[in-house]
Amino acid sequence: MLELVTERLLLRDFTPDDIEAVHAYAGDSEVCRYTDWGPNTAAQSQAFVDEMCAASTAEQPDSMTWAVTVAGNVVGACSVTVTSREHRRGVMGYVLARAHWGKGYATEAAAAVLRFARGDLALERVEATCRPGNVDSQRVLHKIGMQREGLLRSHVLIRGRREDSLLFAAVG
Ligand SMILES: CC(C)(COP(=O)(O)OP(=O)(O)OC[C@H]1O[C@@H](n2cnc3c(N)ncnc32)[C@H](O)[C@@H]1OP(=O)(O)O)[C@@H](O)C(=O)NCCC(=O)NCCS
Repeated sequence: MLELVTERLLLRDFTPDDIEAVHAYAGDSEVCRYTDWGPNTAAQSQAFVDEMCAASTAEQPDSMTWAVTVAGNVVGACSVTVTSREHRRGVMGYVLARAHWGKGYATEAAAAVLRFARGDLALERVEATCRPGNVDSQRVLHKIGMQREGLLRSHVLIRGRREDSLLFAAVG
C-alpha cells in the first residue's frame, strides 16, 4: 500500500510488531466510547493486526487502513473504503490513542487520506459518520472540509444499543 507522508506523520502498512501499540488504543474503553467496535480483547487486537497485515499485500483493495505513526511509533489508524467504484464513492474513518489527542494528528492523517481518496482513488464523494455526541470527531470532519448532511437514525448497533449517526461528506 502506498505510504502517505504529512508534515508530522507517516501513514504506512501495519506490521506484526504493531500489536502492542494497537492494543494500547483499541483496548481503551474511552477511545471506543463512540465506536462500533471494541474495547478489544488482546485476541481481537491480534486478529485486527493479522487481518491488516494480510490485506496490505492485496493488489487493488477496496479497503485500505494505514497505521498512523509519529517518529516511528504507531499512534492510531486511518482508513478509506471504496463503497462503489461505479459511483466513485467511499467512506473513511480514523482512531487515535488517547495520549495523542489534542495535537492535530487526527486532522492531519484524515486530510491525507481524504486527499488520497480523491486523487489516487478518484473518488468524487467521500463520506464519514460519527455519533452525535462525538464532538471531537465532528471537528475533525469540519476541519478537513467535510459538510454535515444529516442524521441517520438508529444507524448502528453499539454494544447492544441502537445509536444515531451524523453523516458527513466531501464531494467533488
Ligand atoms: C476523534 C479523534 C480522532 C479526534 O482526535 P483529536 O486529537 O481531538 O483531533 P485533532 O487531530 O483535530 O486535534 C484536535 C486539537 O489539537 C490541537 N492542536 C495542537 N497542536 C496542533 C497542531 N500542531 N496542529 C493542529 N492542531 C493542533 C488543536 O487545538 C485541535 O483542537 P481544535 O479542534 O479545537 O482546533 C479522537 O478523539 C479519537 O480517536 N477518538 C476515539 C475514536 C473515534 O471516536 N474515532 C472517530 C469515529 S467517528
